Amino acid sequence: MVAPRLGHDNLGLGVGLRSTHYPYILENEPNVDWFEIISENYMDSQGRPRYVLEQIAERYPIVMHGVSMSIGSSDPLDFDYLNKLKALAKVVDARWVSDHLCWTGVAGRNTHDLLPVPLDEQTLWHVIERIHVVQDVLERPLILENPSTYITFAQSTMPEWEFLTRMAEATDCGLLLDVNNVYVSSVNHDFDPIEYVESVPHERIVQCHLAGHTNMGTYCIDTHDGKVIDPVWELYRLTHQRTGGISTLLEWDADIPPFPEVHAEVLKAKQHMSDQLPINIVDTEAASKPDVSNTAIPQPVVSVGAEVE
Ligand SMILES: [Fe+2]
Repeated sequence: MVAPRLGHDNLGLGVGLRSTHYPYILENEPNVDWFEIISENYMDSQGRPRYVLEQIAERYPIVMHGVSMSIGSSDPLDFDYLNKLKALAKVVDARWVSDHLCWTGVAGRNTHDLLPVPLDEQTLWHVIERIHVVQDVLERPLILENPSTYITFAQSTMPEWEFLTRMAEATDCGLLLDVNNVYVSSVNHDFDPIEYVESVPHERIVQCHLAGHTNMGTYCIDTHDGKVIDPVWELYRLTHQRTGGISTLLEWDADIPPFPEVHAEVLKAKQHMSDQLPINIVDTEAASKPDVSNTAIPQPVVSVGAEVE
């Protein structure tokens, strides 16, 4: 069943804008539907990145994706940051502004990581209250992404999809469903990724993320350093079927190949835009379902990866 869409356009198939591709994009004006930027790379810069971005924004739709809002932290919200975000959104005519369901630091210290929140009532209402404030400042709905995670909290009382559903219903925020993150977390925490995708509120999904990851045998790391694997494409296909088509973005942040190769990877999504194809997740990586409770937490490369210049 296809969920009715709330508000945002389907922009098509986009690519995360990375500085290594600036010359190619400016010279060749590739036929890409849209670009997503890491907001922090441009908020404080008036130099070359900002100059390039403004040229690209004249030619392509731009979506802003941030890594520093820290919506789950107990630190006060950073209104200076929010106002800069709002100003940049105006400059590039951002179609929407997204960040992650996470916290990135506390007591004024930034970990430069996207840390998971406890999935309990107290945290839910804390996040809901802060989303209301953020949306008032930005004067637009916030879009929040499901993070890839490596630990869970003993005090969690609900699955992530229930947290996201209640959060979105209480705030009218949108969701960015990263199907690679769903897969990575499903391996790390031994849950069913199909149940996850089936359970999130499809009418609130504004955007989808695709990416590659690294399989460590007993767990996966969200490295964004390669192609999308088949089980993740299966989750994308299911998402497409449930949403009826959604703005889709490929993230590639380490070992980045030339732009045409990155673009070709996201164009594979077209092969999965069929209502007829069955969903059949076969774990080709054969990752054993791990107990990561005593595993050293690996460093996710990308989710924190604002390439600040
Ligand atoms: Fe993502």
